[in-house]
Amino acid sequence: MTQTQEQETADETARAVDAASRGCPEYRSNPHPLYQHLRENAPVCRITPPHGVDSYLITRFEDAKAALADPRISKDMYAAIDAYRSIFGDSSIALDDNMLFADPPKHTRLRRIVSRAFVPRRIEALRPRIQEITDALLDQCSTLQSVDLLSAFAFPLPLQVICELIGVPEEEREEVQQRCSVVARTGFSKKDKDRLAEAETALREYFEVLIARKRKAPEDDLLSVLIQTSDEQESLTDGELLSTLWVLLFAGHKTTAYLIGNAVFTLLTHPEQLKQVIDSPELLPNAIEEIIRFEGSVENATFRHALEDVTIAGTLIPKGSLVQIAVTSANRDAAAFESPDAFDIARPGVQSNHLGFGTGPHYCLGAPLARMEMQIALDSLFRRFPKLSLTMPADEAKWLTVPFPAFRGLTELPVALDPSRVLDDWASGMPDIA
Ligand code: HEM
Repeated sequence: MTQTQEQETADETARAVDAASRGCPEYRSNPHPLYQHLRENAPVCRITPPHGVDSYLITRFEDAKAALADPRISKDMYAAIDAYRSIFGDSSIALDDNMLFADPPKHTRLRRIVSRAFVPRRIEALRPRIQEITDALLDQCSTLQSVDLLSAFAFPLPLQVICELIGVPEEEREEVQQRCSVVARTGFSKKDKDRLAEAETALREYFEVLIARKRKAPEDDLLSVLIQTSDEQESLTDGELLSTLWVLLFAGHKTTAYLIGNAVFTLLTHPEQLKQVIDSPELLPNAIEEIIRFEGSVENATFRHALEDVTIAGTLIPKGSLVQIAVTSANRDAAAFESPDAFDIARPGVQSNHLGFGTGPHYCLGAPLARMEMQIALDSLFRRFPKLSLTMPADEAKWLTVPFPAFRGLTELPVALDPSRVLDDWASGMPDIA
Protein backbone atom coordinates (compact mmCIF):
# COMPACT_ATOMS: atom_id res chain seq x y z
CA MET A 1 0.00 0.00 0.00
CA THR A 2 1.32 3.47 -0.85
CA GLN A 3 1.43 6.19 1.79
CA THR A 4 -1.50 7.98 0.12
CA GLN A 5 -3.60 4.78 0.09
CA GLU A 6 -2.74 4.20 3.74
CA GLN A 7 -3.84 7.74 4.59
CA GLU A 8 -7.10 7.28 2.64
CA THR A 9 -7.85 4.05 4.50
CA ALA A 10 -7.07 5.70 7.86
CA ASP A 11 -9.40 8.61 6.95
CA GLU A 12 -12.12 6.18 5.93
CA THR A 13 -11.75 4.31 9.23
CA ALA A 14 -11.90 7.57 11.21
CA ARG A 15 -15.07 8.66 9.33
CA ALA A 16 -16.77 5.27 9.84
CA VAL A 17 -15.87 5.10 13.54
CA ASP A 18 -17.01 8.68 14.03
CA ALA A 19 -20.38 7.95 12.36
CA ALA A 20 -20.77 4.84 14.49
CA SER A 21 -19.85 6.76 17.68
CA ARG A 22 -22.57 9.29 16.92
CA GLY A 23 -25.09 6.44 16.74
CA CYS A 24 -25.71 6.76 12.98
CA PRO A 25 -28.87 4.63 12.39
CA GLU A 26 -27.45 3.03 9.24
CA TYR A 27 -24.54 1.63 11.22
CA ARG A 28 -26.78 0.46 14.06
CA SER A 29 -29.22 -1.41 11.85
CA ASN A 30 -26.28 -3.19 10.23
CA PRO A 31 -22.94 -2.86 12.05
CA HIS A 32 -21.35 -5.75 10.15
CA PRO A 33 -19.78 -3.76 7.25
CA LEU A 34 -18.09 -1.42 9.76
CA TYR A 35 -16.71 -4.38 11.71
CA GLN A 36 -15.46 -5.97 8.50
CA HIS A 37 -13.67 -2.72 7.63
CA LEU A 38 -12.11 -2.60 11.10
CA ARG A 39 -11.00 -6.25 10.98
CA GLU A 40 -9.28 -5.57 7.67
CA ASN A 41 -7.82 -2.14 8.40
CA ALA A 42 -7.79 -1.33 12.13
CA PRO A 43 -8.21 -4.58 14.10
CA VAL A 44 -7.43 -2.81 17.37
CA CYS A 45 -9.06 0.59 17.06
CA ARG A 46 -9.31 3.50 19.47
CA ILE A 47 -12.94 4.56 19.97
CA THR A 48 -14.95 6.93 22.16
CA PRO A 49 -18.17 5.18 23.28
CA PRO A 50 -21.10 7.24 24.66
CA HIS A 51 -19.87 6.87 28.24
CA GLY A 52 -16.96 9.10 27.13
CA VAL A 53 -14.05 6.93 28.30
CA ASP A 54 -11.73 6.16 25.37
CA SER A 55 -11.39 2.44 24.72
CA TYR A 56 -9.53 0.07 22.41
CA LEU A 57 -11.89 -2.07 20.32
CA ILE A 58 -10.69 -5.56 19.30
CA THR A 59 -12.52 -6.97 16.27
CA ARG A 60 -10.69 -10.05 14.88
CA PHE A 61 -11.65 -13.57 16.01
CA GLU A 62 -8.22 -14.81 17.10
CA ASP A 63 -7.39 -11.55 18.90
CA ALA A 64 -10.80 -11.49 20.61
CA LYS A 65 -10.52 -15.10 21.72
CA ALA A 66 -7.03 -14.51 23.13
CA ALA A 67 -8.02 -11.22 24.82
CA LEU A 68 -11.06 -12.78 26.55
CA ALA A 69 -8.69 -15.17 28.33
CA ASP A 70 -5.67 -12.86 28.74
CA PRO A 71 -4.78 -12.27 32.43
CA ARG A 72 -3.11 -8.96 31.47
CA ILE A 73 -6.56 -7.68 30.47
CA SER A 74 -8.39 -7.40 33.75
CA LYS A 75 -12.06 -7.65 34.73
CA ASP A 76 -11.45 -6.22 38.23
CA MET A 77 -13.51 -3.04 38.18
CA TYR A 78 -12.23 -1.87 41.58
CA ALA A 79 -8.79 -1.52 40.00
CA ALA A 80 -10.22 0.92 37.44
CA ILE A 81 -12.69 2.68 39.68
CA ASP A 82 -12.53 6.11 38.01
CA ALA A 83 -13.38 4.66 34.59
CA TYR A 84 -16.06 2.51 36.19
CA ARG A 85 -17.68 5.56 37.85
CA SER A 86 -17.68 7.48 34.56
CA ILE A 87 -19.43 4.60 32.83
CA PHE A 88 -21.94 3.36 35.38
CA GLY A 89 -22.12 6.10 38.04
CA ASP A 90 -21.91 5.31 41.76
CA SER A 91 -25.18 3.55 42.36
CA SER A 92 -24.22 0.09 41.11
CA ILE A 93 -20.70 -0.15 42.52
CA ALA A 94 -21.79 -2.25 45.50
CA LEU A 95 -24.01 -4.42 43.29
CA ASP A 96 -21.19 -5.29 40.92
CA ASP A 97 -19.05 -7.01 43.55
CA ASN A 98 -19.48 -10.28 41.66
CA MET A 99 -17.60 -12.74 39.42
CA LEU A 100 -18.16 -10.74 36.25
CA PHE A 101 -16.15 -7.86 37.72
CA ALA A 102 -13.37 -9.86 39.35
CA ASP A 103 -10.03 -11.53 38.51
CA PRO A 104 -8.59 -14.69 40.08
CA PRO A 105 -8.32 -15.65 42.89
CA LYS A 106 -11.51 -13.76 43.85
CA HIS A 107 -13.19 -14.67 40.57
CA THR A 108 -12.35 -18.34 41.05
CA ARG A 109 -13.88 -18.38 44.53
CA LEU A 110 -17.07 -16.53 43.57
CA ARG A 111 -17.61 -18.64 40.45
CA ARG A 112 -16.91 -21.92 42.28
CA ILE A 113 -19.54 -21.18 44.94
CA VAL A 114 -22.21 -20.34 42.36
CA SER A 115 -21.23 -23.28 40.13
CA ARG A 116 -21.81 -25.64 43.04
CA ALA A 117 -25.41 -24.41 43.26
CA PHE A 118 -25.90 -23.98 39.49
CA VAL A 119 -25.59 -27.69 38.77
CA PRO A 120 -27.05 -29.42 35.65
CA ARG A 121 -29.66 -31.21 37.80
CA ARG A 122 -31.05 -27.88 39.04
CA ILE A 123 -31.11 -26.47 35.50
CA GLU A 124 -32.75 -29.59 34.05
CA ALA A 125 -35.37 -29.55 36.82
CA LEU A 126 -36.51 -26.18 35.51
CA ARG A 127 -37.50 -27.60 32.11
CA PRO A 128 -41.20 -28.27 32.90
CA ARG A 129 -41.58 -24.85 34.57
CA ILE A 130 -39.96 -23.11 31.58
CA GLN A 131 -42.45 -24.90 29.33
CA GLU A 132 -45.37 -23.83 31.56
CA ILE A 133 -44.19 -20.20 31.67
CA THR A 134 -43.72 -20.22 27.88
CA ASP A 135 -47.18 -21.67 27.24
CA ALA A 136 -48.82 -19.22 29.65
CA LEU A 137 -47.15 -16.23 27.96
CA LEU A 138 -48.18 -17.46 24.51
CA ASP A 139 -51.75 -18.04 25.77
CA GLN A 140 -51.89 -14.35 26.70
CA CYS A 141 -50.78 -13.11 23.25
CA SER A 142 -53.55 -11.94 20.96
CA THR A 143 -53.88 -13.68 17.60
CA LEU A 144 -56.26 -10.98 16.34
CA GLN A 145 -53.78 -8.14 16.17
CA SER A 146 -50.12 -7.39 15.75
CA VAL A 147 -48.14 -8.21 18.91
CA ASP A 148 -44.76 -6.87 20.04
CA LEU A 149 -43.08 -10.19 20.66
CA LEU A 150 -40.27 -8.57 22.65
CA SER A 151 -42.45 -7.09 25.39
CA ALA A 152 -45.09 -9.85 25.30
CA PHE A 153 -42.77 -12.84 25.25
CA ALA A 154 -39.01 -12.41 24.78
CA PHE A 155 -38.44 -10.27 27.92
CA PRO A 156 -40.92 -11.77 30.41
CA LEU A 157 -39.88 -15.37 29.67
CA PRO A 158 -36.21 -15.25 30.78
CA LEU A 159 -37.01 -12.86 33.61
CA GLN A 160 -39.61 -15.23 35.02
CA VAL A 161 -37.24 -18.16 34.55
CA ILE A 162 -34.42 -16.46 36.44
CA CYS A 163 -36.87 -15.46 39.21
CA GLU A 164 -38.00 -19.10 39.37
CA LEU A 165 -34.37 -20.26 39.61
CA ILE A 166 -33.43 -17.74 42.29
CA GLY A 167 -36.64 -18.30 44.26
CA VAL A 168 -38.54 -15.00 43.85
CA PRO A 169 -42.18 -15.84 44.74
CA GLU A 170 -44.60 -15.55 41.81
CA GLU A 171 -46.68 -12.76 43.37
CA GLU A 172 -43.55 -10.58 43.78
CA ARG A 173 -42.25 -10.96 40.22
CA GLU A 174 -44.29 -8.17 38.65
CA GLU A 175 -42.51 -5.52 40.70
CA VAL A 176 -39.09 -7.09 40.13
CA GLN A 177 -39.87 -7.14 36.40
CA GLN A 178 -40.85 -3.45 36.37
CA ARG A 179 -37.69 -2.37 38.22
CA CYS A 180 -35.54 -4.55 35.99
CA SER A 181 -36.94 -3.00 32.85
CA VAL A 182 -35.97 0.46 34.16
CA VAL A 183 -32.43 -0.75 34.89
CA ALA A 184 -32.26 -2.52 31.55
CA ARG A 185 -33.38 0.41 29.44
CA THR A 186 -31.66 3.44 30.96
CA GLY A 187 -28.99 5.39 29.08
CA PHE A 188 -26.25 7.81 30.07
CA SER A 189 -28.07 11.14 30.69
CA LYS A 190 -28.37 12.64 34.21
CA LYS A 191 -32.11 11.85 34.26
CA ASP A 192 -31.40 8.27 33.15
CA LYS A 193 -28.80 7.83 35.87
CA ASP A 194 -31.25 9.11 38.54
CA ARG A 195 -33.95 6.68 37.40
CA LEU A 196 -31.38 3.91 37.34
CA ALA A 197 -30.25 4.69 40.90
CA GLU A 198 -33.86 4.67 42.14
CA ALA A 199 -34.66 1.30 40.51
CA GLU A 200 -31.38 -0.21 41.71
CA THR A 201 -32.04 0.90 45.28
CA ALA A 202 -35.53 -0.59 45.22
CA LEU A 203 -34.23 -3.89 43.83
CA ARG A 204 -31.39 -3.98 46.33
CA GLU A 205 -33.80 -3.43 49.23
CA TYR A 206 -36.13 -6.11 47.88
CA PHE A 207 -33.30 -8.66 47.63
CA GLU A 208 -32.04 -7.84 51.14
CA VAL A 209 -35.49 -8.68 52.49
CA LEU A 210 -35.68 -11.84 50.34
CA ILE A 211 -32.26 -13.00 51.58
CA ALA A 212 -33.35 -12.50 55.21
CA ARG A 213 -36.55 -14.49 54.55
CA LYS A 214 -34.71 -17.40 52.90
CA ARG A 215 -32.15 -17.42 55.67
CA LYS A 216 -34.97 -17.99 58.17
CA ALA A 217 -36.97 -20.38 56.01
CA PRO A 218 -34.88 -21.99 53.24
CA GLU A 219 -36.65 -23.46 50.22
CA ASP A 220 -35.59 -25.55 47.24
CA ASP A 221 -34.11 -22.72 45.21
CA LEU A 222 -30.73 -21.33 44.19
CA LEU A 223 -30.78 -18.47 46.70
CA SER A 224 -31.39 -20.82 49.64
CA VAL A 225 -28.54 -23.07 48.43
CA LEU A 226 -26.22 -20.06 48.09
CA ILE A 227 -27.10 -18.92 51.61
CA GLN A 228 -26.44 -22.37 53.05
CA THR A 229 -23.17 -22.70 51.13
CA SER A 230 -22.09 -19.32 52.43
CA ASP A 231 -22.90 -20.30 55.97
CA GLU A 232 -21.28 -23.73 55.92
CA GLN A 233 -18.27 -23.90 53.57
CA GLU A 234 -16.39 -21.35 51.51
CA SER A 235 -18.23 -18.14 52.14
CA LEU A 236 -19.79 -15.29 50.23
CA THR A 237 -20.00 -12.00 52.14
CA ASP A 238 -23.49 -10.47 52.36
CA GLY A 239 -22.43 -7.95 49.70
CA GLU A 240 -21.14 -10.69 47.40
CA LEU A 241 -24.35 -12.67 47.85
CA LEU A 242 -26.46 -9.68 46.84
CA SER A 243 -24.17 -8.93 43.91
CA THR A 244 -24.31 -12.54 42.78
CA LEU A 245 -28.11 -12.36 42.63
CA TRP A 246 -27.69 -9.14 40.69
CA VAL A 247 -25.40 -10.64 38.05
CA LEU A 248 -27.60 -13.71 37.65
CA LEU A 249 -30.68 -11.53 37.26
CA PHE A 250 -29.18 -9.24 34.61
CA ALA A 251 -26.70 -11.52 32.83
CA GLY A 252 -29.49 -14.08 32.80
CA HIS A 253 -32.36 -12.18 31.24
CA LYS A 254 -31.43 -9.34 28.85
CA THR A 255 -29.03 -11.57 26.90
CA THR A 256 -31.65 -14.27 26.43
CA ALA A 257 -34.47 -11.80 25.74
CA TYR A 258 -32.60 -10.03 22.95
CA LEU A 259 -31.48 -13.38 21.57
CA ILE A 260 -35.07 -14.63 21.33
CA GLY A 261 -35.88 -11.46 19.35
CA ASN A 262 -32.84 -11.81 17.08
CA ALA A 263 -33.62 -15.50 16.54
CA VAL A 264 -37.25 -14.94 15.54
CA PHE A 265 -36.25 -12.06 13.24
CA THR A 266 -33.40 -14.00 11.61
CA LEU A 267 -35.56 -17.09 11.02
CA LEU A 268 -38.45 -15.03 9.61
CA THR A 269 -36.07 -13.33 7.20
CA HIS A 270 -34.69 -16.74 6.09
CA PRO A 271 -38.01 -18.52 5.49
CA GLU A 272 -36.56 -21.55 3.71
CA GLN A 273 -34.39 -22.34 6.74
CA LEU A 274 -37.28 -21.62 9.13
CA LYS A 275 -39.34 -24.21 7.22
CA GLN A 276 -36.55 -26.77 7.65
CA VAL A 277 -36.52 -26.12 11.43
CA ILE A 278 -40.32 -26.44 11.65
CA ASP A 279 -40.30 -29.65 9.58
CA SER A 280 -37.29 -31.14 11.38
CA PRO A 281 -37.10 -29.84 14.99
CA GLU A 282 -33.89 -31.82 15.55
CA LEU A 283 -32.17 -29.07 13.51
CA LEU A 284 -33.09 -26.48 16.15
CA PRO A 285 -30.07 -26.83 18.52
CA ASN A 286 -27.55 -26.19 15.72
CA ALA A 287 -29.77 -23.43 14.32
CA ILE A 288 -29.64 -21.69 17.73
CA GLU A 289 -25.83 -21.84 17.79
CA GLU A 290 -25.73 -20.38 14.27
CA ILE A 291 -28.11 -17.59 15.35
CA ILE A 292 -25.77 -16.80 18.27
CA ARG A 293 -22.86 -16.60 15.80
CA PHE A 294 -24.72 -14.75 13.04
CA GLU A 295 -26.77 -12.27 15.12
CA GLY A 296 -25.92 -12.93 18.77
CA SER A 297 -27.26 -10.70 21.53
CA VAL A 298 -23.91 -9.77 23.10
CA GLU A 299 -22.23 -7.29 20.76
CA ASN A 300 -19.31 -6.46 23.06
CA ALA A 301 -18.03 -8.40 26.05
CA THR A 302 -18.19 -6.58 29.39
CA PHE A 303 -15.57 -3.93 29.93
CA ARG A 304 -11.96 -4.74 30.71
CA HIS A 305 -8.78 -2.74 31.28
CA ALA A 306 -5.10 -3.34 30.55
CA LEU A 307 -3.00 -4.08 33.65
CA GLU A 308 0.19 -3.41 31.68
CA ASP A 309 1.15 -2.28 28.17
CA VAL A 310 -0.23 -4.94 25.82
CA THR A 311 0.41 -5.11 22.07
CA ILE A 312 -2.28 -6.79 19.98
CA ALA A 313 -2.18 -7.01 16.16
CA GLY A 314 0.67 -4.48 16.16
CA THR A 315 -1.22 -1.85 18.20
CA LEU A 316 -0.07 -0.85 21.66
CA ILE A 317 -2.83 -0.75 24.27
CA PRO A 318 -1.25 1.35 27.03
CA LYS A 319 -1.50 0.24 30.67
CA GLY A 320 -4.76 1.47 32.25
CA SER A 321 -6.70 1.69 28.96
CA LEU A 322 -10.21 0.33 28.66
CA VAL A 323 -10.60 -2.61 26.29
CA GLN A 324 -13.76 -3.65 24.42
CA ILE A 325 -13.97 -7.00 22.67
CA ALA A 326 -16.42 -7.05 19.78
CA VAL A 327 -17.90 -10.53 19.92
CA THR A 328 -20.32 -9.69 17.09
CA SER A 329 -17.36 -8.86 14.85
CA ALA A 330 -15.28 -11.89 15.85
CA ASN A 331 -18.19 -14.17 15.00
CA ARG A 332 -18.27 -12.81 11.42
CA ASP A 333 -14.50 -13.09 10.81
CA ALA A 334 -13.73 -14.87 7.53
CA ALA A 335 -10.49 -16.13 9.09
CA ALA A 336 -12.58 -18.25 11.47
CA PHE A 337 -15.82 -19.00 9.58
CA GLU A 338 -16.40 -19.86 5.93
CA SER A 339 -18.79 -17.40 4.22
CA PRO A 340 -19.31 -15.63 7.58
CA ASP A 341 -22.11 -13.35 6.35
CA ALA A 342 -24.22 -16.33 5.25
CA PHE A 343 -26.79 -17.66 7.72
CA ASP A 344 -26.61 -21.46 7.63
CA ILE A 345 -28.46 -23.50 10.26
CA ALA A 346 -26.47 -26.57 9.21
CA ARG A 347 -23.04 -24.91 9.64
CA PRO A 348 -20.74 -27.68 10.95
CA GLY A 349 -19.06 -27.27 14.33
CA VAL A 350 -20.51 -23.84 15.05
CA GLN A 351 -21.36 -24.61 18.69
CA SER A 352 -17.74 -25.17 19.66
CA ASN A 353 -16.36 -22.24 17.62
CA HIS A 354 -18.42 -19.11 18.16
CA LEU A 355 -17.64 -16.60 20.90
CA GLY A 356 -21.29 -15.69 21.61
CA PHE A 357 -20.99 -16.99 25.19
CA GLY A 358 -17.44 -15.63 25.57
CA THR A 359 -14.48 -17.88 26.37
CA GLY A 360 -11.86 -18.35 29.08
CA PRO A 361 -12.48 -17.89 32.82
CA HIS A 362 -15.59 -15.71 32.31
CA TYR A 363 -17.25 -18.11 29.83
CA CYS A 364 -21.01 -17.75 30.33
CA LEU A 365 -22.08 -19.64 33.44
CA GLY A 366 -25.67 -19.72 32.21
CA ALA A 367 -25.02 -21.15 28.73
CA PRO A 368 -26.81 -24.48 29.38
CA LEU A 369 -29.85 -22.66 30.80
CA ALA A 370 -29.85 -20.16 27.94
CA ARG A 371 -29.72 -22.98 25.37
CA MET A 372 -32.62 -24.78 27.06
CA GLU A 373 -34.71 -21.59 27.21
CA MET A 374 -34.01 -20.81 23.56
CA GLN A 375 -35.03 -24.30 22.46
CA ILE A 376 -38.27 -24.29 24.45
CA ALA A 377 -39.12 -20.72 23.37
CA LEU A 378 -38.53 -21.22 19.63
CA ASP A 379 -39.95 -24.73 19.46
CA SER A 380 -43.15 -23.69 21.29
CA LEU A 381 -43.56 -20.49 19.30
CA PHE A 382 -43.18 -21.98 15.83
CA ARG A 383 -44.98 -25.25 16.64
CA ARG A 384 -47.99 -23.29 17.83
CA PHE A 385 -47.78 -20.49 15.25
CA PRO A 386 -46.07 -21.93 12.15
CA LYS A 387 -47.34 -19.06 9.97
CA LEU A 388 -46.01 -16.34 12.29
CA SER A 389 -45.00 -13.26 10.23
CA LEU A 390 -43.51 -9.83 10.69
CA THR A 391 -46.04 -6.98 10.57
CA MET A 392 -43.49 -4.51 9.24
CA PRO A 393 -40.97 -4.66 6.42
CA ALA A 394 -37.78 -6.36 7.64
CA ASP A 395 -35.60 -3.44 6.55
CA GLU A 396 -37.58 -1.13 8.89
CA ALA A 397 -36.72 -3.20 11.96
CA LYS A 398 -35.68 -0.98 14.88
CA TRP A 399 -32.37 -2.00 16.44
CA LEU A 400 -30.86 -0.62 19.66
CA THR A 401 -29.10 2.60 18.72
CA VAL A 402 -26.38 2.83 21.39
CA PRO A 403 -22.93 3.06 19.72
CA PHE A 404 -20.51 0.18 20.45
CA PRO A 405 -23.06 -1.32 22.86
CA ALA A 406 -23.02 -4.33 25.12
CA PHE A 407 -26.14 -5.73 23.46
CA ARG A 408 -27.25 -6.29 19.89
CA GLY A 409 -31.02 -6.49 19.79
CA LEU A 410 -34.28 -5.09 18.50
CA THR A 411 -36.29 -2.49 20.41
CA GLU A 412 -39.55 -4.02 19.19
CA LEU A 413 -40.60 -7.00 17.11
CA PRO A 414 -44.15 -6.58 15.74
CA VAL A 415 -45.54 -9.89 14.50
CA ALA A 416 -48.80 -11.54 13.59
CA LEU A 417 -48.90 -14.90 15.31
CA ASP A 418 -51.61 -16.15 12.99
CA PRO A 419 -51.68 -13.83 9.95
CA SER A 420 -54.96 -15.25 8.62
CA ARG A 421 -56.75 -13.89 11.72
CA VAL A 422 -55.02 -10.52 11.93
CA LEU A 423 -56.88 -7.65 10.30
CA ASP A 424 -53.74 -6.06 8.92
CA ASP A 425 -52.94 -5.77 5.24
CA TRP A 426 -49.20 -6.27 5.58
CA ALA A 427 -49.39 -9.38 7.77
CA SER A 428 -52.25 -11.14 6.04
CA GLY A 429 -51.07 -10.35 2.53
CA MET A 430 -54.68 -9.36 1.70
CA PRO A 431 -55.11 -6.68 -0.96
CA ASP A 432 -56.45 -3.36 0.29
CA ILE A 433 -60.01 -3.37 -1.03
CA ALA A 434 -61.30 -0.35 0.91
C1 HEM B 1 -28.41 -16.30 25.20
C2 HEM B 1 -28.18 -15.87 26.38
C3 HEM B 1 -26.82 -15.51 26.91
C4 HEM B 1 -25.74 -15.00 26.28
C5 HEM B 1 -25.59 -14.66 24.78
C6 HEM B 1 -24.71 -14.82 27.28
C7 HEM B 1 -23.44 -14.34 27.02
C8 HEM B 1 -22.44 -14.21 27.95
C9 HEM B 1 -21.09 -13.75 27.68
C10 HEM B 1 -20.57 -13.32 26.31
C11 HEM B 1 -20.41 -13.76 28.84
C12 HEM B 1 -18.95 -13.37 29.04
C13 HEM B 1 -18.82 -11.90 29.31
C14 HEM B 1 -17.39 -11.42 29.34
O1 HEM B 1 -16.43 -12.22 29.32
O2 HEM B 1 -17.22 -10.19 29.38
C15 HEM B 1 -21.32 -14.20 29.89
C16 HEM B 1 -20.99 -14.33 31.22
C17 HEM B 1 -21.90 -14.70 32.17
N1 HEM B 1 -23.19 -15.13 31.99
FE1 HEM B 1 -24.16 -15.28 30.23
N2 HEM B 1 -25.20 -15.20 28.50
C18 HEM B 1 -26.49 -15.64 28.31
C19 HEM B 1 -27.34 -16.13 29.27
C20 HEM B 1 -27.03 -16.26 30.60
C21 HEM B 1 -27.91 -16.80 31.61
C22 HEM B 1 -29.31 -17.36 31.34
C23 HEM B 1 -27.25 -16.69 32.80
C24 HEM B 1 -27.65 -17.08 34.19
C25 HEM B 1 -28.74 -17.51 34.59
C26 HEM B 1 -25.95 -16.11 32.53
C27 HEM B 1 -25.00 -15.86 33.48
C28 HEM B 1 -23.73 -15.40 33.21
C29 HEM B 1 -22.75 -15.14 34.26
C30 HEM B 1 -22.95 -15.31 35.75
C31 HEM B 1 -21.61 -14.69 33.60
C32 HEM B 1 -20.29 -14.28 34.26
C33 HEM B 1 -19.37 -15.47 34.32
C34 HEM B 1 -18.03 -15.11 34.93
O3 HEM B 1 -17.71 -13.93 35.08
O4 HEM B 1 -17.29 -16.05 35.28
N3 HEM B 1 -25.86 -15.86 31.20
N4 HEM B 1 -22.55 -14.49 29.31
